[in-house]
Amino acid sequence: MAVLVTGGAGFIGSHTCVELLNAGYEVVVVDNLYNASEESLRRVEEITGKKLTFYEADILDRERLTEIFQKETIDSVIHFAGYKAVGESVQKPLEYYYNNVTGTLVLTDVMRKNGCKSIVFSSSATVYGDPEVIPITEDCKVGGVTNPYGRTKFMIEEILRDLYVSDPEWNIILLRYFNPIGAHESGRIGEDPKGIPNNLMPYVSQVAIGKLKCLGVFGDDYDTPDGTGVRDYIHVVDLADGHVKALNKIAEMKKNGADEVKIYNLGTGNGVSVLQLVHAFEKVLGRELPYEIKPRRAGDIATCYADPSKAKRELHWEAKRGIDEMCRDSWNWQSKNPEGYSK
Ligand code: UD1
Repeated sequence: MAVLVTGGAGFIGSHTCVELLNAGYEVVVVDNLYNASEESLRRVEEITGKKLTFYEADILDRERLTEIFQKETIDSVIHFAGYKAVGESVQKPLEYYYNNVTGTLVLTDVMRKNGCKSIVFSSSATVYGDPEVIPITEDCKVGGVTNPYGRTKFMIEEILRDLYVSDPEWNIILLRYFNPIGAHESGRIGEDPKGIPNNLMPYVSQVAIGKLKCLGVFGDDYDTPDGTGVRDYIHVVDLADGHVKALNKIAEMKKNGADEVKIYNLGTGNGVSVLQLVHAFEKVLGRELPYEIKPRRAGDIATCYADPSKAKRELHWEAKRGIDEMCRDSWNWQSKNPEGYSK
């Protein structure tokens, strides 16, 4: 029995493959390599000393996906595949809705036709929009999302909820990630964004390596302790481990029957500001990082961090790594792979 990992060659996907292989799962990856490299999977095998099965395929390709389900014995699916750039999604809404939403529709339809009704979906804290209460619990209001990328996550959550209502044989877990950073401690796999990074940590790493000159800090007049935005950064290896724990939960749901779609925040519960992250990174680096205060970025919120206690209670999962380790491992990856996976 294997786990199918869509988007398994990407940042979170590749780290999850490592943890799945280490936990003894058989892993089948489907990835179209649109925003990922096959090299990451080679390195996953190198880190774990285990083999996985890779199909270069698009989840929108119903025939290919069906062939894969017929060839492999897929027990459950972890679904990462999707476009993920907030700014780009504003420019290309149709592409985002088509790829992310339709991709999920095709995937789940092929799954049910092949008797596989267990899925862990890669959602995001972005579904909470500007949160009403901090720390954010799973029953906080969702849906006030400000961009097409985030709305695809919200829509897919709704679709999966409707699917469960129509057929309670489905076992569905929605994982809402906070801000994943860091890298595997080997420095062999990590985040490899295309072009100029949008997210804070990849930008900081590229300033540190000298590819970018200066970090722009987007706003220092938020209602936060130092005026800069506060987020719940989570080490990607902790996040990956959360998926293994979610699969354990799926196994339990299969045995006892699922009474609902399960939703879990995956975060640390600690809020860290932009400047705190910069200073933690400087400590690892042993030198100062150039930054300048810029205007606020449209669509940003002041503060966002999780109440992760439900995941602790029900998944027996807890983030173990702190911000210093996240910075250390991000820098280890960036300094050993200045050009990411491309030689
Ligand atoms: C963003 C997305 C979120 C997505 C996540 C993926 C928005 C509103 N949210 O989260 O939907 O799931 O990425 O990881 O875009 N910052 C700077 N300078 C930079 C970059 C960022 O100061 O060059 C600040 C931001 O203002 C924010 C913090 O750093 O306060 C984190 O930003 P980022 O890494 O982009 O993540 P989010 O915006 O939280």
